Amino acid sequence: MLPTKAVIPVAGLGTRFLPATKVIPKEMLTIVDRPTIQYIVEEVVASGIKEVVLVTASGKSAIEDHFDYSFELETFLAQKGKLDLLNEVRHISRLIEVVSVRQKEPLGLGHAVQVTEQVIGDQPFVVCLGDDLVESEEPCVYQMLKVFEKYQEAVVAVQEVAEEDVRRYGIAEGKEVEPGVYQVERIIEKPEPGMTKSRLAVIGRYILRPEIYDCLKRTLPGIGGEIQLTDALDTLRTERSLYAYKFKGKRFDAGDKLGYLQATVHLALDHPDLGHAFKKYLKEIVARL
Ligand code: UTP
Repeated sequence: MLPTKAVIPVAGLGTRFLPATKVIPKEMLTIVDRPTIQYIVEEVVASGIKEVVLVTASGKSAIEDHFDYSFELETFLAQKGKLDLLNEVRHISRLIEVVSVRQKEPLGLGHAVQVTEQVIGDQPFVVCLGDDLVESEEPCVYQMLKVFEKYQEAVVAVQEVAEEDVRRYGIAEGKEVEPGVYQVERIIEKPEPGMTKSRLAVIGRYILRPEIYDCLKRTLPGIGGEIQLTDALDTLRTERSLYAYKFKGKRFDAGDKLGYLQATVHLALDHPDLGHAFKKYLKEIVARL
């Protein structure tokens, strides 16, 4: 059985991006010409998933509105004959079926996943973090679904990071069972220096099995006082199995100011209409440095 639903948690406070995120959710900050969350939803749709469960909180309604039908706007654009824009706006409102679940307090990513239990039920599901962007030829989620299809166990996407960055991530240790696929033997959230030799950092893409809910119920607050999905995954791998998959592509942490700038430059260069002019402009800037 393959997942048909993707959970996208967007209930965090986005403190790393203050003051921009005081009123505007970080997932709605624009990268080139669309909000971050739209790139993620487009990745999910390109991977064959049409049902999205948003984990939201107060102040995040702009995200739901973005994927909703806007009668006023569509009527206005139709009347003015602005058909290209109308098609663009319609495309967004028809992309996905959305269900929203409220996370009443930002108690951590693990808790954000936990509150989706009623909606997901007894089936595998995808989790994509609302501020993690992956640029790749083949959508990252699609790559992971192929791994899940083979092993039928939970899969986390990993990338190799520099040793000094290990302490900023959830880190997976394990043995490589085929090129780029690891059977996880331990997974730790933000390890202190010396705690692990692995540099396989978990990024914001997961395929989970419903057993994770039971693991989450038994997970106590960990690093930062939050219920960590990583801790529940460590329980899951002892009771069942967990795989880490080194995805092909480039990941950006758009919830971080530098990561956001890098994503903007990268995606602007790849943009079909803007890429050429932007590249020319960047070359001028670089020449002046
Ligand atoms: P982050 O840790 O990057 O989000 O969580 P944050 O807490 O909003 O960010 P900072 O550190 O304060 O800047 C990754 C994803 O998980 C969601 C966030 O919205 C983000 O998309 N999240 C996090 C929740 O939905 N609930 C939480 O309790 C925590």
